[in-house]
Amino acid sequence: MARFITEQKRTHSCGQLTKDDIGKEVVLFGWVNNRRDHGGAVFIDLRDRAGVTQVVFEEDVRPEVHEVAEKVRLEYCVGIRGKVVSRGSNVNARLATGEIEVHGTEVEIFNRSEATPFPIEDQIDTAEEKRLQYRYLDLRRGPLQRTLMTRARVNHLTRNYFTDSGFLELETPFMVKYTPGGARNFLVPSRLNPGKFYALAESPQLFKQLYMIAGFDRYFQIVRCFRDEDLRLDRQPEFTQIDVEMSFVEQNDVFDVIEGLIVKLWREVLGIEIPRPFRRLPFDESMDKYGNDKPDLRFGMEHVVLTGLVKEHGGGGVPLLAEAVAAGGIVKGMKVPASAAFSRTEIDKLEEYVRGMGSKGLARAKIGEGGEWTQSPFAKTITPEMRLAVNAAMGVVPGDLVLFQFGKPSTVHTVMANLRVHLAKKMGLIPEYGSGGNWNFLWVVDPPLFEYDEEAGTWAAAHHAFTRPRDQDLPFLESDPGRVYCWRYDVVLNGFEIGGGSIRLHDPEVQARVFRAMGISDEDARSKFGFLLDALKMGAPPHGGIALGMDRLVMLLTGAESLRDVVAWPKTQKGTDLMTGAPGDADQKQLRELSVKSTVEPGK
Ligand code: AMO
Repeated sequence: MARFITEQKRTHSCGQLTKDDIGKEVVLFGWVNNRRDHGGAVFIDLRDRAGVTQVVFEEDVRPEVHEVAEKVRLEYCVGIRGKVVSRGSNVNARLATGEIEVHGTEVEIFNRSEATPFPIEDQIDTAEEKRLQYRYLDLRRGPLQRTLMTRARVNHLTRNYFTDSGFLELETPFMVKYTPGGARNFLVPSRLNPGKFYALAESPQLFKQLYMIAGFDRYFQIVRCFRDEDLRLDRQPEFTQIDVEMSFVEQNDVFDVIEGLIVKLWREVLGIEIPRPFRRLPFDESMDKYGNDKPDLRFGMEHVVLTGLVKEHGGGGVPLLAEAVAAGGIVKGMKVPASAAFSRTEIDKLEEYVRGMGSKGLARAKIGEGGEWTQSPFAKTITPEMRLAVNAAMGVVPGDLVLFQFGKPSTVHTVMANLRVHLAKKMGLIPEYGSGGNWNFLWVVDPPLFEYDEEAGTWAAAHHAFTRPRDQDLPFLESDPGRVYCWRYDVVLNGFEIGGGSIRLHDPEVQARVFRAMGISDEDARSKFGFLLDALKMGAPPHGGIALGMDRLVMLLTGAESLRDVVAWPKTQKGTDLMTGAPGDADQKQLRELSVKSTVEPGK
C-alpha cells in the first residue's frame, strides 16, 4: 500500500467533491465527524475545514480495509483513498458534497482520539469554561471555523484595500515607553535596565504620527494592542486594530477611506450594499437623544432633554426636579408608547433595573385621556402648564408612559442610555442578526476636546492630547476649556464603537496651550512626550487617522455575541487563558534577574 502524505498526496478537500467528480480516484485527509457501522459497511463522515464527505468501506469489497475502518472512532485523524460514486436517489441536500460518496479502497489512521470532552458539533450547550479549556477542540466546530475564516478574509480584504489605495503596511514596536493618558498599560520589566519597565503599546498612536513626520504619507497596520482594562463582552486585553494614518488630510478624507473599506467588507463578506455617505451625528446631539456616543439607531425611543423646560417653569411645582436642576443636574424623559402595554409589575422591575445602575428610582407618568398624569409621583404637585409643556415636548398621546431621570448628568445619560436599549429589547424593536440589512453605520462627530474630571477637579483630554481643536474655539482654550470642540470622530454600528480617530495637532504652540489647559506643565509635557514635541517642530505635516476595532468588526459581521467568539485564543473576564493557565507564576530566579519583587505572599 502506498503511504499517505509522502506518496499519496491529498487530491481534494472534504468540501469539494460534486457529481462532476464521479468516477475519480481521490485522496482525502481529515477527522471523523460521524461513523455508522451497518454490519458489512462502515460509513464515515470525513471532515476538514472545507466541509464533510461521506466515505463507505464495504466488507465484501476489501475486507482488510473494512477491518481498519471498523476501528475508526469519532475525531480520529485519518487519510482515505477511494472512488467517487453517485449517491443516486439518496442525495443529502444539507451537504455541499451530498450528491456523492467515496467508496474507500484504502484507509490509514494517522492518530486516534480519546473521547472528546464535548461533541464537535455546531450546537452544543457545554459551559464556556470547558470550551475555553479545550479551545483547539472548540475551534474544530463549524461556527468557530466559519468565523475564523471570515476573520482571515477580512484581513486579506483589508490588506488589499489599503495597499491598492497607496498605503504602506509598516510596523511599530510593542515594547514602548509608558506615556500617560490612555488606557492602563501592561508593564514589562527590563532585565538589562534594572528597575525600568517597558509598556506594552496600547496602540501605535505616537509612532504612526511619527511615520507621517518621517514622510511616509499613508500608513496602515493590522496590529495587536494591549490594554489592562476591566473586560467586557466587547473588550479583550489584547485585541487587533486596523490602524490608519494619513498626511495632508481633513476629516472628510479619512471618512472616505474608511467608508470605502467598510462598504467593501460588507459587500464581499455578506453580499450587502451599505449606502454612503454614512450619517453624521454631532456628539452633543447623540448625548441628548441617546445618552452616549455610540447609539444604536436601529430603533427610535429617543430621549428628550427637559432641563430647559423645568428651568423655564421654575421647577413647575415639582421640588425634586427643581432641586436637581438648581444643583447643575439635568432632566430627561423617554416615551414608552401605549402599544408596549407594560404592566405595573413590569415597570417596577424596570425600576429595580435602573437602581442597579446607581439611579435613585424611576419616576414615571401615565398619560390619561385629557393629558393628565396618573401613576406618577409628580402628578399631585406639578403645575398644569409644566405638565402640558412636558406632554408637548415628549409628543405623547393618551395611554403612553413617560419615564424620567434627573440629577448628575453622567448618571442620567448612562441610565437612560441603558434603559433605552433594555426597553427596545423587551419590545422586540431590535432586529435579529441577518433579518434584513439593518446596518446603521454612523459617524459621531464634533465632540468637546476636554472632559471635566470631577474627582481630580481638572480638565482632561477626552481622547488623547494630540487631537486638533476647532480653529474657532482656540480663543477659549484658557478661559473656557469646556467650550472647545475638536476634530475627533467615532464610527459606530448598532450600538458598538467600531472605530475612533482624529485630525491631529501639528502646531507645537497650540499643543503647548492644550497641555497647559489640561494642567500639564511644560516640563511635565517635555518629560512625558518630549520626543513627539520635538518632532512636531521639524516640519510635521498636517495629518490625521483612525483605528478600527477589528475584533468588533468581525463580531458584528458574523453575528457573534462576544469578542470571545471571534478571537481564536481569548482571555476570560478575569484576563486568564483557561487552556494554558496564563498568567502563571514566575520563579524567584526569573524575578531576581528582572530586579522585581512580588508583594504577594506565596500561596495567597
Ligand atoms: P481607540 O482607543 O478608540 O483609538 O481604539 C480604536 C478602536 O479599537 C477598539 N477597541 C477594542 N477592541 C477590543 N478590546 C478592547 N479592549 C478595545 N479597546 C478599543 C474599538 C475602538 O473604537 N490610537 C487611537 C486611534 C486614533 O486616534 O487613530 C485609538 O487607539 O473598536
